[in-house]
Amino acid sequence: MHTRPPTISIYALLATTFLCSCSAYVAQTPLSDDRCTETTVAILGGGMAGVAAAQALSNASIDDFIILEYRDTLGGRVWHTDFGKDPNGKPYVIELGANWLQGLGSEATENPVWALAQKYDLQNTYSNYTSIRTYNETGPTDFRPLLDVYADAYQIAARDAGRILMQNLQDQTARTGLALAGWRPRKNDMAAQAVEWWSWDWEAASTPETSSLVFGIAGENLTFNQFGQANHLVLDPRGYSTIIENEAATFLTDPVRDARLRLNTPVTRIEHFANGVTVHTKDGTCVRAAYAICTFSLGVLQNKAVTFHPELPRWKRTAIEKFNMGTYIKIFMQFEETFWPDDTQFFLYASPTTRGYYPVFQSLSTENFLPGSNILFATVVDEQAYRVERQSLHETKDQILEVLREMFPNKQIPEPTAFTYPRWTTEPWAYGSYSNWPAGTTLEMHQNLRANTGRLWFAGEATSAPYFGFLHGAWFEGREAGENVAALLQDRCATVQGVETCGDRMFYDPLNGTTPLDAYSGLNGWPVSSTQV
Ligand SMILES: Cc1cc2nc3c(=O)[nH]c(=O)nc-3n(C[C@H](O)[C@H](O)[C@H](O)COP(=O)(O)OP(=O)(O)OC[C@H]3O[C@@H](n4cnc5c(N)ncnc54)[C@H](O)[C@@H]3O)c2cc1C
Ligand SMILES: *[C@@H]1O[C@H](CO)[C@@H](O)[C@H](O)[C@H]1NC(C)=O
Ligand SMILES: *[C@@H]1O[C@H](CO)[C@@H](O)[C@H](O)[C@H]1NC(C)=O
Ligand SMILES: *[C@@H]1O[C@H](CO)[C@@H](O)[C@H](O)[C@H]1NC(C)=O
Ligand SMILES: *[C@@H]1O[C@H](CO)[C@@H](O)[C@H](O)[C@H]1NC(C)=O
Ligand SMILES: *[C@@H]1O[C@H](CO)[C@@H](O)[C@H](O)[C@H]1NC(C)=O
Repeated sequence: MHTRPPTISIYALLATTFLCSCSAYVAQTPLSDDRCTETTVAILGGGMAGVAAAQALSNASIDDFIILEYRDTLGGRVWHTDFGKDPNGKPYVIELGANWLQGLGSEATENPVWALAQKYDLQNTYSNYTSIRTYNETGPTDFRPLLDVYADAYQIAARDAGRILMQNLQDQTARTGLALAGWRPRKNDMAAQAVEWWSWDWEAASTPETSSLVFGIAGENLTFNQFGQANHLVLDPRGYSTIIENEAATFLTDPVRDARLRLNTPVTRIEHFANGVTVHTKDGTCVRAAYAICTFSLGVLQNKAVTFHPELPRWKRTAIEKFNMGTYIKIFMQFEETFWPDDTQFFLYASPTTRGYYPVFQSLSTENFLPGSNILFATVVDEQAYRVERQSLHETKDQILEVLREMFPNKQIPEPTAFTYPRWTTEPWAYGSYSNWPAGTTLEMHQNLRANTGRLWFAGEATSAPYFGFLHGAWFEGREAGENVAALLQDRCATVQGVETCGDRMFYDPLNGTTPLDAYSGLNGWPVSSTQV
């Protein structure tokens, strides 16, 4: 079910290998001696950010670009697959990647993803987080009151985070912020651990220990206070990615035949020079461009799946290694019957031994989702996701059935008729799910992640300061990079979200510490120099 082996794009062949001067496709991509296709902008990756960048260029009348995409389809981490069978024997369509529209926005503050969902009539349903039942190893056990205890502490922590931001005080971990606000669950209080996982880890795909308090909460605020609290789960037979494919069709003359889209084309090497960028691909072709916009995931950059020549500057590599790529895995199962209460959307399970062990199950068999589908899915993140990735489907299935037997002790739990999950950490075009802002990371450090290095620009979910991790973050960043590059090509400034930006993005080198050298003294416990002993 994973990525198919790359096949050579027919258009790549047409344009470069056959060296044919007979076709209309070739005319717009003049060949040079070394068989690189020449273009103005190379867009690396065809996910939300890449497609938004291409559209922004097209909107600015720059139509000479090429999108290079690893997989056989657009959409990137918005990725669906067929699963199980409906009563007529036809498969259902499930989302392995992005699933929710998060914050629907309003006319005043539009969430661009919601706008696209409206434009293309994307099917989605309100996720009701109060439609929840709680369980532990003895069966149903109501620890929902703890959800309110957490929510009260979170509000205090959020205000504190706002104060820290406004007064330029030192950031904390989310753990510290929650603890100071009165939430510090004991390690053996598994109900509280489950509530904390549901409230923090599930969205961040990282623990409160590793997450920045200020940027974690600012991120929540910027999406959910600005665009609204509602989350809608997308369940569309065309897949969530239909909005990305349809947007691409607004500027590609024909998404299949337009030579500006090269699917099945993994990029292996990026050479960046003062006057341009040359991109080499696995099939031996190359593209030479005046500018490139790289939208590869943070995981792809961290795993060195693509090499840069010359090596990226140290300030850029530091930012890449500093930001955190998380993993979020949905495990889908279909049964012959719905043995769980079908009036409820969420089932929270507190494992007696292990925090985050199959903690949440969602029913798709519920009204307004896929009623009658008998589909349930569990979510694991972070360490539990890596563990599940290292074991077989069979082992995972057995563990889940054991959990379900604990949750529903009076039911006969049947074997699932279908069972699957993706392994995000090892997908060679993603290496993880989405990013999270780590503690001890300033806005300047993050800006270094999104800054261009000469003619090479960066965009994607992770480069968004306000919306990292979200699909709308990828859209905003793609658009902005596209507009910035268009402006450079047209020798003008760009106005993005009301702010004028001209030329290169700023970056910070060096990133200064906060403690001046003369503050290291015996008075605060530093009597000797650590660098000279
Ligand atoms: C499991 C999961 C759940 C999520 N849930 C939500 C959610 O509910 N709501 C939400 O808003 N967001 C969610 N997200 C996040 C959302 O999917 C991402 O923020 C968004 O899709 C990122 O878009 P992008 O364009 O930045 O990156 P990508 O989608 O990763 O696009 C980059 C593209 O580059 C391609 N590529 C990579 N390497 C190469 C290479 N070497 N050569 C050529 N091409 C390459 C990839 O194939 C991909 O198409 C989720 C993500 C995951 C994985
Ligand atoms: C391109 O222009 C269209 C039409 O005005 C607009 O709907 C779309 O959002 C623009 N795309 C980007 C990425 O700016
Ligand atoms: C959400 O679920 C709760 C609990 O079942 C219910 O009381 C409430 O009416 C639901 N809200 C909406 C908007 O459906
Ligand atoms: C987040 O929003 C809350 C509620 O509006 C506010 O009190 C707090 O200051 C905000 N915090 C940050 C970091 O933006
Ligand atoms: C699980 O719930 C039962 C019933 O509420 C309780 O007696 C038991 O202690 C709980 N288990 C754990 C590990 O907390
Ligand atoms: C870092 O410190 C140096 C030396 O004090 C200073 O010149 C520079 O402006 C500082 N840089 C930043 C980004 O604050």
